[in-house]
Amino acid sequence: MRAWIGLLLTLFLCYARCELCDRGTGVCKELTATDCPVIFFIQHLIANEIKYCNEIDEIVCCPLPRNNQKKAVEPVEENRPYEKQCKHFNDIRAACHQSPFIVGGTKAAGREFPFMALIGITKRGKSEINWDCGGTLVHPRFVVTAGHCLETPETKEQRLDPNFDSPKFVVRLGELDYNSTADDAQPQDFKVINYVVHPAYNDDDDNKVENDIAIIELDRNATLNEYVAPACLPPSTGNDQQQLTAAGWGLTADAGHKSSHLLKVSLERFDDDLCEERLEVEIESRTQFCAGSINGIGDTCNGDSGGPIFVQHPRYSCLKLLIGITSFGGICGTRGRPSVYTKVYLYTDWIESIVWGE
Ligand SMILES: *[C@@H]1O[C@H](CO)[C@@H](O)[C@H](O)[C@H]1NC(C)=O
Ligand SMILES: *[C@@H]1O[C@H](CO)[C@@H](O)[C@H](O)[C@H]1NC(C)=O
Repeated sequence: MRAWIGLLLTLFLCYARCELCDRGTGVCKELTATDCPVIFFIQHLIANEIKYCNEIDEIVCCPLPRNNQKKAVEPVEENRPYEKQCKHFNDIRAACHQSPFIVGGTKAAGREFPFMALIGITKRGKSEINWDCGGTLVHPRFVVTAGHCLETPETKEQRLDPNFDSPKFVVRLGELDYNSTADDAQPQDFKVINYVVHPAYNDDDDNKVENDIAIIELDRNATLNEYVAPACLPPSTGNDQQQLTAAGWGLTADAGHKSSHLLKVSLERFDDDLCEERLEVEIESRTQFCAGSINGIGDTCNGDSGGPIFVQHPRYSCLKLLIGITSFGGICGTRGRPSVYTKVYLYTDWIESIVWGE
């Protein structure tokens, strides 16, 4: 019985990424001190008994811990500021709009993704706003987006200086269709008083963008309600979900056309190799992952730049967990082409230090 629970938990934790061996009592691992210490440190004593998954590459069948239940339970980082805040967001959200899992892009409903932010640019003295990027509300006053969304010809000081004649960033929350006033939305617009692009953000190489993440500080706290509510930041482990949802105003079935109505799409995580093959560029697999529609059923772009890819929060049914930020991708409408996302969990500490720091 216990072994079965262990096996089920292991399968659940492994998803498609690890291979069980020896009738499910072990997992194929590299014979190293970190991957399989149980065998590594006594290998000279038990040389004849070692079971290999692949002897040439020294992949051994590493026995599962007998009591792996403790390990299997996702650690709850409950004392961390981001997690406390997440619990608080859950406490104050009385109701929420749920919708079933869908394949292919479709219009989002009002209040379905209240953490979605539009990031736009206005020219001085003009009322017209160009909505260029998406973002995610993670705190009443902070939005997380992609670093490249904030790259401008002006310096940051010039962009933020109200007296300097340069285009200014604006953020809108609570929107559904920005070309409609009859939609189920309650927009709130904000000026940007500060923003921080990740210090290791790098787009020097033509084909690559690294650490593509940034934080925007709004000029005031958003009013949280059914239309505007933050998403939670991810914990340090357990962020390799295979099915994710992306949302944005940039995803359309036909290349080049933006949608003024918020859209959503269910996407699958791509294996890194398959992703590189389809995109014909290398990704930095430690900090980036790919998602798309493997068989091309969705036939969509995957979201606007800076917008989120997310999953249902495992504990709070009214909240989503921010897993990735849309960084770059294939051409919209190209079947089977994935987009590349920044892995947010690697940056939770950094975001926390800015959002909940001094
Ligand atoms: C803004 O929201 C944060 C988080 O809920 C809260 O701690 C802070 O006091 C609020 N600030 C103002 C000025 O209301
Ligand atoms: C929104 O409306 C404006 C003015 O009618 C139009 O020019 C623009 O193309 C519309 N945008 C979208 C994305 O539909």
